[in-house]
Amino acid sequence: MPAAAPPLGHFLPTLGAIFGQEPWIIDTAADRVVAGDARLGADVPSHWFELCREVARRGSPEFIAEQEPLLALAVPIPLLGPIQHVAVGVFRAEGGGTASGSLAESCRQLGLNSAAAAWLTSQAPWPAQRLLAVAQNLVQRWRSEAQVNQLGDEVATLAVQLGNLYEEISLLHRLTRHLRISENDEELARATLGWLADTLPVESLALELISGQARQGEAGADSPLFLTQGNCPVDGAGFRRLLKRLAVVEPPRMRIVNPPASTELTADFPGLPPLVVAPLVEGEHLFGWLAVFGHRHAAEFGSSEASLLASVGALLGIHCGNLALYREQADMLGSVVRALTSAIDAKDPYTCGHSDRVARVAVALAGELGCNRQQLDTVYLSGLLHDVGKIGIDDQVLRKSGRLTDAEFEHIKLHTDIGYRILRDLKQLGDVLPVVRHHHEAWDGSGYPQGLTGEQIPPLARIVSVADAFDAMSSDRPYRKGMPDQRLDAILRGGAGQQWDSRVVDAFFRIRDKIRRLAARAEEREPLVDEICRLA
Ligand SMILES: [Fe+2]
Ligand SMILES: [Fe+2]
Repeated sequence: MPAAAPPLGHFLPTLGAIFGQEPWIIDTAADRVVAGDARLGADVPSHWFELCREVARRGSPEFIAEQEPLLALAVPIPLLGPIQHVAVGVFRAEGGGTASGSLAESCRQLGLNSAAAAWLTSQAPWPAQRLLAVAQNLVQRWRSEAQVNQLGDEVATLAVQLGNLYEEISLLHRLTRHLRISENDEELARATLGWLADTLPVESLALELISGQARQGEAGADSPLFLTQGNCPVDGAGFRRLLKRLAVVEPPRMRIVNPPASTELTADFPGLPPLVVAPLVEGEHLFGWLAVFGHRHAAEFGSSEASLLASVGALLGIHCGNLALYREQADMLGSVVRALTSAIDAKDPYTCGHSDRVARVAVALAGELGCNRQQLDTVYLSGLLHDVGKIGIDDQVLRKSGRLTDAEFEHIKLHTDIGYRILRDLKQLGDVLPVVRHHHEAWDGSGYPQGLTGEQIPPLARIVSVADAFDAMSSDRPYRKGMPDQRLDAILRGGAGQQWDSRVVDAFFRIRDKIRRLAARAEEREPLVDEICRLA
């Protein structure tokens, strides 16, 4: 925004104070005097107008007439832009005659009247060069002041722009901080509307999420989610009609609609204020729409509002795209885990359900030991998959009901390493690998496959180890009944600090009743796997 020029009256007092007279102010565009000291008492000689125009063009003070002892000094007044006004003063030069007769004659020669001569007699004389230097300094000072004022205005404008920019960046920053996979879409959408309402001077906002899959686990997830803030002029159905009427859907694109909107549009949507719509889009996938209605401080929306809305729409679009991709991967992981656990059960029907029970008991133990949500998820998957290596063990050995020979036992022991090799290329199951490999290690180092001791054994493997032993001892087998509780408890107590981490055994006894209930529950693998994969 250009700086406002100071009024002409701003310069007159300075001129008066410095030169001891208020000079004529000549408007060079109109060739007329617009202000001046009445004591000069005469009209400006007409040929001075042309001389003043020249001074205005050159922009520096100059003497435009000289009649000893009088000097006429023209000083351009540097308002902003091309100079239009020039101040003209008549001065007595130092060293010139002082006789009133001589002054009167000089005045007459210059075209000034006798009243001017009388007044000039009382004026102190100026050294000519000093007079010019003072005028030059004055013009320079005015120019500097004008520049400072202009810069000040620019700084103020810039400060406002920076303030707006800061608000916008701050909104985008808040939004990106909340773009976590686990973030609930609806909460994020509501928060985004609130932040936009704080940042943009709009009357109302609307946000539509099209993708039902983006709304995890909700009944009727295929219907669009339509959220508004402020007094939105359309409802969900109206918004769909509006998008269609604006022809922004195929392909999805941003649009600013400022008045006058087309008569067709206003006929369908009476009183529709100016608006901006932006798609939530990622690549070719459309996930929803964002719209703002009615500018609070202007008749129209401009590029700054549109650009912010486009950025927010793009960020939300990318987030929705990531979310869809993540859920696809989680579904895939769920299918893999389901396939593997089914394969283990099919391989060893005598222990059917073992993996599932171990998973549930291990989660209960891990919870009792203070594990966080992520560790609980890992321990659950680890429980389901800990014996996946049995897929590679000989059926006859696996299903043998009698005592195993040393060689057969050595063969069975391979299931930990086989399991590790089966899963090691599945990046999403990376946290499960230490449990699969080390769930048969013993606290005193007597376990397998590596004979790790104490703290060397991965913590979640120590938990699964206790759950595994509990289920192996407590479950019925076709060839034997499950061990009585009393005996099982004694074995676990006796093995604390030798076979198992005593902290895990202690946790077992703290929640023993809960664990027995968990292990006795009917087959619940499918919903639990689904749940865990969604939370992974
Ligand atoms: Fe095992
Ligand atoms: Fe096992």
